[in-house]
Amino acid sequence: MPNSNKTKIHIGLIGLGVVGQGVWKHLQKHKTDLGRRLGVDLILKKAAVKDPARERSVKLSDAQITTDPMAVAKDPEIQIVCELMGGTTVAKEAVLVALQSGKTVVTANKALLCDHGPELFAAARAGGGQIFFEASVAGGIPIIKVLREGLVANRFSTICGILNGTCNYILTRMEREGQGFEAIVGDARKLGYVEADESLDLDGWDTAHKTAILAWLAHGRWIATKDMAVEGIRDVTLHDIEWAGKLGFKIKLLAVVQRDSASGRIFASVQPTLVPRSFVLANVDEVFNGVSITGDVVGTTVYIGRGAGQDATASSVISDIVDAALDLRNGGCQSPLPTDNPVDLLTLDEIRNCYYVRLEVKDKPGVLAEVATLFAQKDISIESVLQTPACDKRSAHLILTTHITTGKRMADALQEIARPSGARQNPSAYP
Ligand code: HSE
Repeated sequence: MPNSNKTKIHIGLIGLGVVGQGVWKHLQKHKTDLGRRLGVDLILKKAAVKDPARERSVKLSDAQITTDPMAVAKDPEIQIVCELMGGTTVAKEAVLVALQSGKTVVTANKALLCDHGPELFAAARAGGGQIFFEASVAGGIPIIKVLREGLVANRFSTICGILNGTCNYILTRMEREGQGFEAIVGDARKLGYVEADESLDLDGWDTAHKTAILAWLAHGRWIATKDMAVEGIRDVTLHDIEWAGKLGFKIKLLAVVQRDSASGRIFASVQPTLVPRSFVLANVDEVFNGVSITGDVVGTTVYIGRGAGQDATASSVISDIVDAALDLRNGGCQSPLPTDNPVDLLTLDEIRNCYYVRLEVKDKPGVLAEVATLFAQKDISIESVLQTPACDKRSAHLILTTHITTGKRMADALQEIARPSGARQNPSAYP
């Protein structure tokens, strides 16, 4: 029973889908204990849903259900609004209305933050409320808290992570079972892992949204996805996974946020990447996420856990609710956000990496020499070369690894490479 002497904090949910139901269920279960620890009563007041008649795993009274998100956003009694509906139109309107009324917003919506972060945080400052967003990146891993609080003493040279469980699941099964992308993506769809807008997962945009949030927390600058190198996993072939394996790597869809120590400029990218098997992130498989953060004070720390799903995401949302309740109880903000920092970006052409390149070429005299000459003309130094017959025997796979070079040199070389090599298909090239 609620203790009538305690401060009451009313919570409203916008969206009662998989994550919303998880939040409702676990908060109901733990609210007495959490309330005791916080010295407040946490009261789940209302949830906005699309279809009140839908079967749900949690039971709400008629008075607790509305079909109008604004009925939650504008409810004067509700102090914490949890936006869990997704999308960037109605969700944005509801979040802005809540913030303009001085409420605190908890959201798992990475696309919303990536596309409208500066406007939303300005609205929070103007209204006197806050935005909490632990569930927006890496699901149940408390990576936002790590950057905001735990590692606040650091400047970050490199953050890299596996941030999309669906892509990681597909790549893991391709590697283990030797089946192609199309076969495995079908299973991922059946299991409900792939977002309704498949491009978000498969073309890397979901990872890019999360990367933008990490970059902002680490460096104080929002990087638009158009300023990142973003490539998904649709073109990753079994040949590439197998060759990467023979070279001692696994292919992962890796988000990278890096600060160039010489210029202080930063860049962000999302690309299939060869990760050395000896690096802990190479062994983050299936739907799991993993993030490695290198700071100048702490060195490298690594975080692994479930990046999606009802319970993992609910765990992060409830952690935000607890932080929000603490701030409301104490009348302040416990963990400040980064200050805006107009740091410049490295252009995509300037980004420096070693590359893996696989070409399917005509197996005839002089082709290897021509490819090597082209790389030399582009000032790219080759580290190793391997060749193996392709299926039709008249062709061969040529696998090159390079020393560090720039994105521009590699892009120029790839554009011209079809000519000398008589390439049968587009080359694969991954950092
Ligand atoms: N589609 C996302 C993923 C959901 O697969 O990781 C969690 O953000």
